[in-house]
Amino acid sequence: MNKPFVIAIDGPAASGKGSLAKRLAAHLEFDFLDTGALYRRAALNIIENGMDIADNSAIINQTERFIPKLHEKYDDSALRNDKVGNLASIIAQIPEIRALLFNFQQEFAKKSNKGAVLDGRDIGTIICPDADLKLFITASTEKRAQRRHKELLLRGLHVKYEAVLAEMQERDERDNVRLKDHLAPNIKNHVIDTSDMSPDEVFQTALDFYTSQSR
Ligand code: DC
Repeated sequence: MNKPFVIAIDGPAASGKGSLAKRLAAHLEFDFLDTGALYRRAALNIIENGMDIADNSAIINQTERFIPKLHEKYDDSALRNDKVGNLASIIAQIPEIRALLFNFQQEFAKKSNKGAVLDGRDIGTIICPDADLKLFITASTEKRAQRRHKELLLRGLHVKYEAVLAEMQERDERDNVRLKDHLAPNIKNHVIDTSDMSPDEVFQTALDFYTSQSR
C-alpha cells in the first residue's frame, strides 16, 4: 500500500489556513482534519461541565475521559466562538492536554488512503514532522484582526475592532511558543503571507507548491 501524501498547514489564528486546508483537501480528494477543532471540543467539554479552569489536574482528567468521543460527529457551529477559542488556546498550553490529543492526530494522518491535510499550530513540527509538504500560512496581526472583525459583524456581533485586535494579540502571545518552532532551519516550510492576497491566490500558490513537491 502506498504511503498517504501528508500536507501540514500551520499558522496563527485568522491567517486563512483553515479555509486553505479545507479547499486543498476537497480539490485533491484528501482527508481533512482541523486540529484546532479538537482543542476547541476539549475546551467546550470543560465549559459544559462547569469546571474551574485554574484546576489543571481536573481539566486533564476530564479531557482524558473525553478522548474516546473525538471519533464522534460534532456540531462545528458550537465551537466557533471566542469563548471556546480562547479557552482552547489556554488549555493548549498544558503539555498533558497536547499529549492526550497527539495520537488521534497522528493516526488520522497515517490511516488516510490517498492523502491527508491537517491544519493547526504544530503539525509540521510535532504531529507530522515527516509531512510531504509543509505550509506556514501567516498575515499581519492587523489584517487578521480585520478579517475576524468582519466575520463577527457578518454574524451580527457588534464588537469594536480594537477589542478584536487586543484579543488577537493576546491569543498570539500564547500560541507563538509553538509557532516560533516553525522558524527552525530543519523545518522545511513554504511560507505564504496572505496579508495582501485573495483566497484564490493563496490557494493557487499552495497548489503550485503541492504540484512541484508531488512530482
Ligand atoms: O485554529 P483554532 O483557532 O481553531 O485553534 C484554537 C486554539 O487551539 C488555538 O488558539 C491554539 C490551539 N491549537 C494548538 O495549540 N495546536 C493545534 N495544532 C491547533 C490548535
